[in-house]
Amino acid sequence: MTTAIEIGYRAIDTAQAYGNEADVGAALRTLGVPRSELCITTKVRPSNDCDERFIPSLRESLDKLGVDRVDVLLLHFPPADGDVAPSVRRLEEAVRLGLAGHIGVSNFTAAMMNAARSATSLPLVANQVEFHPLLDQRVLLRAATETGIPLSSYCSVARGEVFKYPLFDDIAKGYGKTAAQVVLRWILQKGVAITTMSTRRENIRANFAVMDFVLSSVDMDRIDVLNATHYRIVDRPRVPDAPVFDPAATQH
Ligand SMILES: NC(=O)c1ccc[n+]([C@@H]2O[C@H](COP(=O)([O-])OP(=O)(O)OC[C@H]3O[C@@H](n4cnc5c(N)ncnc54)[C@H](OP(=O)(O)O)[C@@H]3O)[C@@H](O)[C@H]2O)c1
Repeated sequence: MTTAIEIGYRAIDTAQAYGNEADVGAALRTLGVPRSELCITTKVRPSNDCDERFIPSLRESLDKLGVDRVDVLLLHFPPADGDVAPSVRRLEEAVRLGLAGHIGVSNFTAAMMNAARSATSLPLVANQVEFHPLLDQRVLLRAATETGIPLSSYCSVARGEVFKYPLFDDIAKGYGKTAAQVVLRWILQKGVAITTMSTRRENIRANFAVMDFVLSSVDMDRIDVLNATHYRIVDRPRVPDAPVFDPAATQH
């Protein structure tokens, strides 16, 4: 995290389920970045998404992070029964109590995005979902436009799977960039905010340097072809809470 902060990252993505909120908080205290510069996101784990545990669990997260409120609070996964309105009301309560600046969701299907949109008049600032070139997420992109809930990506480089495709190196050469930078730029040009993770200084640095080039529409189209791979990482049965995306997302 020290490297990321030095390079200029200010958006921090954590979650109750990651078990690292206390470490993130300790690192932030050591680094001394002004709070106003940071955008801290955490996510409520599904077992805390009920009236009794939601706010107490959030207060516990804030204690661990060493902050009065998070900038963005997400539901980590949709509720098991698919009824999103009660969960959205709990998010609203977090804002009302001043414990969260903004709210959003994660792993929501298009239908759930619509239901969430109808359940609140507050802005929903993200649906954080698996998003990379090896997965067709056109249905979610359309839902983002229709609902005004922007997508943000996770597994942005498909945990390294993208690097098995020479196309990204081919395209990267033309821009003097790396395959990873091409992948991240493709995500940005889809209108999706990026969440990245790396343990290596050179990769952390590379992932930050994607604002100084633009992929041509021809190269965007060449990458789009790989959506048909339909490679998923956060999926059932390994992750039982993983969304079953709307069927059209798998059609071409
Ligand atoms: N909402 C959710 O349900 C959910 C689910 C999963 C993840 N997330 C969030 O998304 C973040 C990122 O997702 P992720 O870690 O699962 O997948 P990812 O970003 O696709 O993959 C991370 C892996 O890619 C490698 N990598 C990163 N940048 C690279 C580069 N420039 N060149 C080569 N390799 C590179 C890293 O290796 P090195 O360390 O060797 O660089 C790391 O092993 C997580 O940290 C988490 O905050 C959210």
